Amino acid sequence: MKYFLDSAKIDEIREAYDTFGIDGVTTNPNHIMNSGKPFFTVIGELAAFVKEKGIEGWDKFPISVEINPHLDNADDMVEMGTKIAAMCPNFVIKIPCTMAGITAARRLEQQGVRTNLTLVFSASQALIAAKNHSLFVSPFIGWKENSGEDCVDYIQDIVDIYTNYGFLGETQIICAAVRTGKQFVDCAVAGADIVTAGLQVYKDSFYHPFTDYGLEKFCAAWDKTVTE
Ligand code: E4P
Repeated sequence: MKYFLDSAKIDEIREAYDTFGIDGVTTNPNHIMNSGKPFFTVIGELAAFVKEKGIEGWDKFPISVEINPHLDNADDMVEMGTKIAAMCPNFVIKIPCTMAGITAARRLEQQGVRTNLTLVFSASQALIAAKNHSLFVSPFIGWKENSGEDCVDYIQDIVDIYTNYGFLGETQIICAAVRTGKQFVDCAVAGADIVTAGLQVYKDSFYHPFTDYGLEKFCAAWDKTVTE
């Protein structure tokens, strides 16, 4: 299972890439806002980052960039998606899973621009993303679980449906808005392709107090070991 960082902050992306080797990045309008920088400045920084690291190409290090969420017709979505995609070969165009968004994603894929259908909250939305050959589909886990739904069956259903019809791997499942280590495990057990989460969620999921406890014990033993 691949790990994407859900962020538009270049210092966080750099840290996550250098420390635990993230496989890609997902952004959204919230993350761009939180960076405190203008949209085109942020995506310019992302394009410079992949050049510097020698990882150019959506197949090497995909970066999902979301179009203006106010756009509500496919023509405008395709126009903006085409413009963004031309700025960097890593950019995958993130589009909401609405009727206009599905139409735009279908057209962008036909013209060779890779897409990520986002704001997906049901297996039937995930199925339409695959039928239209989006590179990624982003079912949101955290938002559903925040509102009391369990997502184990939800993710498993998407994986099973994709398996039944040969979509698995063609349209890759990004479990999005992941908030806990337990959710990472649920996604991995179900066979999801990718998870995306913020940097602190990854850090928390790598932490276990017994690791610290064990290290303390072993340090004490090391210090009391007879020296040669
Ligand atoms: C997915 O691609 C989204 O960017 C994301 O996971 C949104 O969730 P959050 O900003 O609430 O974490």
